[in-house]
Amino acid sequence: MSPIESPIFTPVQIGPVTLRNRIIRSAAFENMAYGNKPSQDLKDYHVAVSRGGVGMTTLAYASVSRSGLSFDGQLWMREEIVPALKEITDAIHAQGAKASIQLGHCGNMTHRATCGCTPVGASTGFNLYSPTFVRGLRREEIDALVHDFGHAVELARQAGFDCVEIHAGHGYLISQFLSPYTNHRHDEYGGSLENRMRFMKKVIRRVMEAARDDMGVVVKMNMYDGFRSGMQREECLEVARELERLGVHALVLSAGFVSKAPMAVMRGAMPLKTLAYYMDRRKFWWLKALVRGFGRLMIPTVPYRDAYFLDDAKAFRAAVKLPLIYVGGMVSRSGMESVLEAGFDALQMARALVRDTDFVNKLQRGEVERSECRHSNYCIGRMYTLEMRCNHCVENLPPSLRREVEKAEKRWSH
Ligand SMILES: Cc1cc2nc3c(=O)[nH]c(=O)nc-3n(C[C@H](O)[C@H](O)[C@H](O)COP(=O)(O)O)c2cc1C
Ligand code: SF4
Repeated sequence: MSPIESPIFTPVQIGPVTLRNRIIRSAAFENMAYGNKPSQDLKDYHVAVSRGGVGMTTLAYASVSRSGLSFDGQLWMREEIVPALKEITDAIHAQGAKASIQLGHCGNMTHRATCGCTPVGASTGFNLYSPTFVRGLRREEIDALVHDFGHAVELARQAGFDCVEIHAGHGYLISQFLSPYTNHRHDEYGGSLENRMRFMKKVIRRVMEAARDDMGVVVKMNMYDGFRSGMQREECLEVARELERLGVHALVLSAGFVSKAPMAVMRGAMPLKTLAYYMDRRKFWWLKALVRGFGRLMIPTVPYRDAYFLDDAKAFRAAVKLPLIYVGGMVSRSGMESVLEAGFDALQMARALVRDTDFVNKLQRGEVERSECRHSNYCIGRMYTLEMRCNHCVENLPPSLRREVEKAEKRWSH
């Protein structure tokens, strides 16, 4: 069978980096960095996705500092992990793909036991979703974090990454500064949008310096937070324009806020039984009970459809000129082609590549037109406690979880 001809499979430039095609494995937390270090599992997954044909793969959710960690299985950028990361990027490159790493700080989405201190955020308060008390960052701590972002980029260069993706969305620290929901500061970092963008601007300036002229810099940002007291589209358009002025090479356009509207990011239902089932009974008995009892109220469902962010993303396409990367509900060749036709330069996908690491090759060979992911979101419920995996790759799924998955698959599959 001769390979399919499609704009999807043409090269694309992100800053100084050329990708062999326009499909990027988006940052989707693997929970495989046991002890906050790279592992064989993490390497195997990204090598498999690279062998499977993506233009670039993104290691997810690496924290620039200890205080920014929300999971024990999450990468923490420091000198001692550079050699192991280099092994991963070498192996990705050997498959013809480029390597990117998402860098961020979780802000209030953590616990003392994981991040080693009282969780910090834009403002002092209580995060019901973690749940934890949060201390607002002092000015000098903000400067130190800006430095940490730059240092993390330098470590990423040493580790052989072609690109970094700065996480400025989903209600993590940069997004906590941007959003009026989490930023109640009265100093130069709070109040007007100009002030709320100040932390992001400092971070990006430092990141651009550290990336010099040989690394790509992508920023994942929100087009809206997904609830009334959060950021709306108009302010987010201004954030996109600011990022363009700062010279970043591309934006990934997402939405949602993990502590308030998590399913706005991924759409569909959160599998609450799965989420509660895998939680450690000794450590999190109260959270298990809370999720079982009040999960439906805490985590509202947001309906899934293919290319669910496309209409919103088009408004951003019209507002800025820099390359834009589409993400959200990319599962079919026709969906991907319509995104490129709408003027997006590349696209990211997560679940289709959790379901099948070889999906891109199969698409290019014309063996499939559409992913077999049925949006049960089992992978999301599981990822909070165990390594990321699709339910179709798990043997002996407990009956209650199987029933939950089957119900969700029936509801959200197209
Ligand atoms: C298991 C899982 C983990 C995720 N972790 C992250 C993450 O660490 N950082 C991030 O920016 N987005 C994360 N996401 C969101 C994805 O990157 C992506 O934006 C979203 O899933 C929509 O793409 P899709 O429809 O192709 O799955 C995650 C998604 C999934 C399914
Ligand atoms: S089928 Fe369900 S578990 Fe598998 S990748 Fe898709 S959403 Fe995740």
